[in-house]
Amino acid sequence: MSDWTYHSNLPLAAIADAPYWARRHIEDIFPKWGAASLVMNAQLVATELVTNGVRHSGGSMELPEVAITGGRAMPTKSVLPKKGEGAIIRLSLSYEEGRLLIEVWDKSDTPPAAQLPDFVSERGRGLFVVSAFCEKWGWHPSQGGGKVVWAELH
Ligand SMILES: Nc1ncnc2c1ncn2[C@@H]1O[C@H](COP(=O)(O)OP(=O)(O)OP(=O)(O)O)[C@@H](O)[C@H]1O
Ligand SMILES: [Mg+2]
Repeated sequence: MSDWTYHSNLPLAAIADAPYWARRHIEDIFPKWGAASLVMNAQLVATELVTNGVRHSGGSMELPEVAITGGRAMPTKSVLPKKGEGAIIRLSLSYEEGRLLIEVWDKSDTPPAAQLPDFVSERGRGLFVVSAFCEKWGWHPSQGGGKVVWAELH
């Protein structure tokens, strides 16, 4: 990753509020990177990849209670796993002028399998949405186990 101008690596507990903290992280750092225009698309893509990562690392997407504070839905409490329990996922963001790489590592070796969404399924749209908002996406096994699902945005 040394050829990227900016890089961040955020470990997240594999729990339902992980996508929320991924979005907050993106809107915090992107303006500092000069990448403010990519915030919304990056948040959308990261939300889908992080949600998949939580689901496929044994985490639960059961939603915590939220309250609207300052126009934002904020979790009222975090459903943190007990010490020594619970999986983490990793959100990596790399940026150089005009080019953003979003990577989500999870501990599952199973690859993602994009589906063609139909009109009735409630699920199976996330990667379809990701593919619509990025230049390319893919996955690769991770050296230490698990895998990385990535998407590149311009
Ligand atoms: N990180 C992952 N690890 C293992 N399998 C995955 C992962 N991400 C996606 N998949 C597989 O790919 C399928 C398609 O993912 P996608 O995000 O498009 O749909 P979904 O997660 O099932 O539903 P939705 O995102 O619409 O809530 C999933 O059903 C799952 O089988
Ligand atoms: Mg999904």
